Amino acid sequence: MSDRAGPPQETVGNEAAVVGAAADGAGGNEAAAAARVQELRDQIRYHQYRYYVLDDPELSDAEFDKLFGELQALEEAHPELRSDDSPTVRVGGLVSDRFEKTRHPTPMLSLANAFSEEDLFAWRERVRRLLPEEERARLAYVLEPKFDGLTVVLHYEQGRFVLGATRGDGVQGENITPNLRTVRELPLHIPVDPRRGVTAPARLVVRGEAYVEKADFEAFNRRQIAQEERTFANPRNFAAGSLRQLDSRISAGRPVKLWVYQVLVLEGGAALTTHSGALAYLADLGLPVYPDVRRFADADFEALVEATAAFGARRHDLPFEVDGVVVKVDDLAQQAQLGFTGKDPRWAIAYKFAGQEEVTRLLDIVLNVGRTGVITPNAALEPVQIGGVTVSKATLHNEDYIKALDIRVGDRVLVKRAGDVIPKVLRPLVELRSGDEQPWQMPATCPACGQPLVRPEGEAATYCVNNACPAQLVRMVEHFVGRGAMDIEGFGIRQAELFVERGYIHDLADIYALPWDEIRQLEGYGDKRVENLQAGVEASKQRPIARLLTGLGIRYVGSVVAELLMAHFASLDALMAASAEELNQIDGIGPRIAASVVDYFSLQPNRDLVRRLAEAGVRTADLDRPARQGLD
Ligand code: IVH
Repeated sequence: MSDRAGPPQETVGNEAAVVGAAADGAGGNEAAAAARVQELRDQIRYHQYRYYVLDDPELSDAEFDKLFGELQALEEAHPELRSDDSPTVRVGGLVSDRFEKTRHPTPMLSLANAFSEEDLFAWRERVRRLLPEEERARLAYVLEPKFDGLTVVLHYEQGRFVLGATRGDGVQGENITPNLRTVRELPLHIPVDPRRGVTAPARLVVRGEAYVEKADFEAFNRRQIAQEERTFANPRNFAAGSLRQLDSRISAGRPVKLWVYQVLVLEGGAALTTHSGALAYLADLGLPVYPDVRRFADADFEALVEATAAFGARRHDLPFEVDGVVVKVDDLAQQAQLGFTGKDPRWAIAYKFAGQEEVTRLLDIVLNVGRTGVITPNAALEPVQIGGVTVSKATLHNEDYIKALDIRVGDRVLVKRAGDVIPKVLRPLVELRSGDEQPWQMPATCPACGQPLVRPEGEAATYCVNNACPAQLVRMVEHFVGRGAMDIEGFGIRQAELFVERGYIHDLADIYALPWDEIRQLEGYGDKRVENLQAGVEASKQRPIARLLTGLGIRYVGSVVAELLMAHFASLDALMAASAEELNQIDGIGPRIAASVVDYFSLQPNRDLVRRLAEAGVRTADLDRPARQGLD
């Protein structure tokens, strides 16, 4: 991830204008540079704030790096404009005031970036030049992934984990100890395995990266989408958001993992002479160290560069996100000799991979009606290849998102694809507008049923509240027959649309009373196909009752919650009879879920639906369990 380190926000707002005015009388070039420097510093601070404090960046890494690079170049060309509080000089991110602050034992520096193989070779030349002749022979490098997560500083005293903090502004971080204690990879006592013959050092402070695996991130977002809850933009934000919680029980439920990669302080431990040795030592103590770190002699630098490219090509196969590799001088004494420039060590460099973002044209904005009536505006895009996949659709979230970014139909837009998640429109490229672009308005009526749309006060979402809206019914059927639920082979969105449109399905129970003879008359529905479909519908009657419950599409009741509930109740009848208090007592079921279930079954049409499903032969009880297991 881009390094957006920098100082806290300070308003420097109008200085640019003042300098700009002086330029009129005093020769333009210097004044224009000064104004631009000021502007860039403001922008960079703002984007650092979005990134670090809000966990909600507006810019892609590439865009941010571009701003940062421009500022660095200007300061290089105009030394008189340099300033101690420029984001290029100060170490940092931002500290939110929600957490107690804690001072780091050493400043938490960041890394200079290389964007090409030439940059890597140039870095090596500088390292060689700065070291005395006799040192060059011993020179070697370590190549490791650049983990894309939340940087953390972990303190151990006499082997006990006593403090964990975010990087914050590089000098002070946020104390998130209780949240970090919930990370399973993080040993609370070291050594983890005394049989290895290592003993705990008196004091150890390490730096690492807390992260979430891509699959865990996607599964979480899928669950959130199913429950119409907030999703995270990427695994990094998810990891950061999970650890920057005031309630550590929330952190505990999140699949956050950890890699450590640097010793910051060591007292009363092994005598470390190399970075690779330090990693091996940390691994011996039982800390999570990425196993596939490689060492190259200086003479093999070309092989290192090749390995870097190979790593870049394979990075999508890794279970976690990396945004580059880090190359470090291995010898710790040489690292000390090389020292730092500004906020970056000279002994290390980050090589960034190209991002998963492309520019394409926004052809139209189309509304999708969700199963609960939520209206999502989607972007219809001119198809574009992103990371080897053709993208022609992306989410625009809601009305406010489109307004805030002033996205217009016809705009060229920056689109990002992150893992398997729905691609996202990041922003319009305003500078490429022709003037023909059309501002967009949320329509007043539902595109499917024509009834008025409603946007409840204080909510970002717009809804179609018509219970009889055919689009909602189609989505409901699609969900019911889908994989996590009744899993009916050959039954997908097309069939759902067709059968709803033809009037065969008015509610979910109608799936079990389809007019098969009529369907056989439809184009594309030959005997074999109908037979298979019919068999699929028949087979679904025997699904475990938790699947049926998932299929009903009750708010907040996805497959995980459905399993929890049906482990307690032997039948849907028993569940329907339960009170909110009873439900609340089940481990993992909170008041929100409990209320949602009770609300759902308090409606007669929903109770009738379950009855009709049962009459159609769908399993609504577990035969081998007593009727109200665990609650009598
Ligand atoms: S070494 C003195 N190694 O990337 C510099 N940093 O752009 C010590 N990061 O937030 C940093 N993976 O925490 C190092 N293998 C790795 C890393 C890594 C991720 C983070 C780092 C910082 C950012 C710098």
